[in-house]
Amino acid sequence: MRTIIIATSNPGKLRDFAGAARRHGVEIAGVPDLSSRPAVVEDGLTFEANARKKAEVYSRYVPGETVVADDSGLEIDALHGAPGVYSARYAALDPQNSDLLNKEPYQAGANTDDEANNARVLRELKDVPLAQRGGRFVCVLAAAREGKTLATFRGTAEGIILEAPRGANGFGYDPLFYLPQINRTSAELTAEEKAKYSHRGAAFREFLGWYEAGGNL
Ligand code: IMP
Repeated sequence: MRTIIIATSNPGKLRDFAGAARRHGVEIAGVPDLSSRPAVVEDGLTFEANARKKAEVYSRYVPGETVVADDSGLEIDALHGAPGVYSARYAALDPQNSDLLNKEPYQAGANTDDEANNARVLRELKDVPLAQRGGRFVCVLAAAREGKTLATFRGTAEGIILEAPRGANGFGYDPLFYLPQINRTSAELTAEEKAKYSHRGAAFREFLGWYEAGGNL
């Protein structure tokens, strides 16, 4: 069975990749000792920039192998695309959080917990009716080898931001993200279903097409 090396320490992302890989008969492996490596500063202004940066840094730890990194987030139309690339630390960047004074955005604190991020989104959408709560999850994967990006792949999933969380699976903003085509939130999907309908599943399919055509050789 083919093995794809994924550079992420996010357990939610790893579960998603494992689900996507199962659907396609491939196996996922992590980068050895990733947790003891210095964190990559995600200061890019786009998902692409951050995905490339992570893939380039982490691929140097596994010479000769193609390494895939994921940068992803939620774009909400009524918030002009926020939280976007700041999805993982949206609560830490909250102007109502006084600890923020004099800090650069990407230094404003480590990633915040999912509940705090979701609470900020719900607060900002408080007066926005359901019909105007559209948005999308975006995932960009970068495949790199020995510090050089070979290709990037983008997947999106369109949905509606609910007024209250629903479902116990998944991570991040999943409980708020309603997929009209299947009448469920992202947190109400099994790993296999999430692979089918999610931004990460879509990006992974693009990546696999490239990989199976020998793009990494
Ligand atoms: P990254 O590690 O900088 O790519 O941050 C990604 C952040 O976007 C996560 O911490 C979540 O807050 C959010 N996110 C990305 N993908 C998903 C998903 O599939 N479900 C829920 N939230 C997600």
